[in-house]
Amino acid sequence: MTSEEIRSKFLEFFKKRGHAIIPSASLIPENDPSVLFNTAGMQPLVPYLLGAKHPAGVRIVDVQKCVRTGDIDDIGDNRHLTFFEMLGNWSLGDYFKKEAIDWSFDFLTSKEEGLGLDPNKFYVTIFKGENGIPRDEESIKIWQEVFAKHNIVAEVAGTDEKVTGNVRIIPLGVNDNFWIAGNTGPCGGDTEIFYDTKADTETGKPEGNFTELVDSFRLFEVWNNVFMEFNKTVDGKYEKLAKQNVDTGMGLERIAVVVNNKDNVFDTDIFAEILAKIHTNVTKKTNDVSDRKAERVIADHVRAAVFMIADGVYPSNTDRGYVLRRLIRRAVRYSDILGLSDTLLVELADVVINKFGKTYSNLIDNRDEIKNALSGEAEKFRRTLKDGLKHFEKIIKDQPKTISGTDAFNLFQSYGFPIEITLELAKEKNILVETKSFDEELKKHQDLSRVGAEKKFKGGLGDTSEKTIQYHTATHLLNAALRQVLGEHVMQKGSNITPDRLRFDFSHGEKMTDEQKQRVEDLINGWIKAKLPVEYKEFPKDEAEKIALHSFNEKYADIVKVCSIGAEDNFISREFCGGPHVKNTSELSGHFKIQKEEAVSAGVRRIKAILL
Ligand code: SER
Repeated sequence: MTSEEIRSKFLEFFKKRGHAIIPSASLIPENDPSVLFNTAGMQPLVPYLLGAKHPAGVRIVDVQKCVRTGDIDDIGDNRHLTFFEMLGNWSLGDYFKKEAIDWSFDFLTSKEEGLGLDPNKFYVTIFKGENGIPRDEESIKIWQEVFAKHNIVAEVAGTDEKVTGNVRIIPLGVNDNFWIAGNTGPCGGDTEIFYDTKADTETGKPEGNFTELVDSFRLFEVWNNVFMEFNKTVDGKYEKLAKQNVDTGMGLERIAVVVNNKDNVFDTDIFAEILAKIHTNVTKKTNDVSDRKAERVIADHVRAAVFMIADGVYPSNTDRGYVLRRLIRRAVRYSDILGLSDTLLVELADVVINKFGKTYSNLIDNRDEIKNALSGEAEKFRRTLKDGLKHFEKIIKDQPKTISGTDAFNLFQSYGFPIEITLELAKEKNILVETKSFDEELKKHQDLSRVGAEKKFKGGLGDTSEKTIQYHTATHLLNAALRQVLGEHVMQKGSNITPDRLRFDFSHGEKMTDEQKQRVEDLINGWIKAKLPVEYKEFPKDEAEKIALHSFNEKYADIVKVCSIGAEDNFISREFCGGPHVKNTSELSGHFKIQKEEAVSAGVRRIKAILL
């Protein structure tokens, strides 16, 4: 079964059960501007999980693009990927555990409507109860009924977490079976579904400690059903949500592995064309295992880079741009190791665009931009790579045991080596790198530290503190003010918010004058004083596109939320946006002040501003 078939089967299955199909949101989070990328299907839906009304209703199904780079060193094993697609069905205050569990198992096992997998091969985990939240007895009961329908006795494992005899249900603690993205936000216990990948080749059922069976890849996680009942607040409290939600996530690449009886994500149709193209162009062979890993790393990184650029990310030295830069540079280095030609990376981008463009049309719309950004960055890196490698050899000749933070920083600063390239080179030669002092060097040299960005990135959602929400509304005011002062060509190109400041990228060709900056500040401070209401309304997409600002690069659902600031007949800002925002501009505490206005790339400027 191809990945295309799995995607559409999933959407159809849940559509038949009353779910509205919504398109994937951009990889760049809109509702939570304090995080770099969407790392889970739930991220674009956070406001709705917290209680806001979703325009598509209370049952939703989607396939969400996600990026995770916490696992960058694991890429090339059998299941980790930088970019992946998450299939998800959502109940926003509608159905809860019973339907969620029933349907997920029906989809996995039904021959007519689902994937037709053998029910005997499944094992599940449930939340064992911790931190004052009790064990999930309800899910145990539901699972036992579900298995019983297939004539399977499902017993619950003991505290030794041992899979043996009729054990099918394994209770685990907060680290495994309580889902939260980042530190705050909607969360709850979950139940995860695992598939026995070796049932056909090994004798008998899996036996042994559950975690060991997972680590040895015998049991493979395919689906997570999260029962979101709490909101974890900034001060660490779990508040009961007004409504109970279901958030489910099934990685498309992983389920494609299971359905097709493979043992790793790279052997699925998702990677078939790109890996074949890489493999036939290899001119330098070293050893099978490391060559295969290099091929997989290139395939993974190029695919992720293509999707990122299509969603508006460009290689740079900070935040998202830096994540992208690292991926491209790492792909270049592995290409060189395999002796691939310099032009191959761009040809690989075409392979990715052709494969996924049917589902994600913005890949096709931005084909030239994607290829230009890739080749530009690759060229830039190649220009210094050779010299950098020479410099590296020199460093280790003088210091054969450790590479100091200063040396690692020089490699980064002068030769563009992201730290993991230095780490990889060092590892091959059994040399240590003083990463801690590298981080310190980096911090000294940068106003916006990448390290901070990476933390944010790994942790998922940033917090939605009061101040963050204020800055989010201020960002809309800034967009409106810039359009008044500079002209209607101003479009949002990026946004990043922390509790301490906002950062806003926009299209504009030249440096702003002091007078322009002053006028922008005056407008915004005037609007704050004017106590303007901030309101959401739902519109059919076609209508909304005529009246509100939106990205031209993105697919929107049929019904969208529009956020307006000001009186209905005299609004000052109207944008596609799900929130969160303050209710009235008077809640913005402080005076709006532009701290910095600078260029980010040709035709794009950046403002950093604070409410003081
Ligand atoms: N949020 C959960 C996850 O990412 C389920 O979708 O695993």
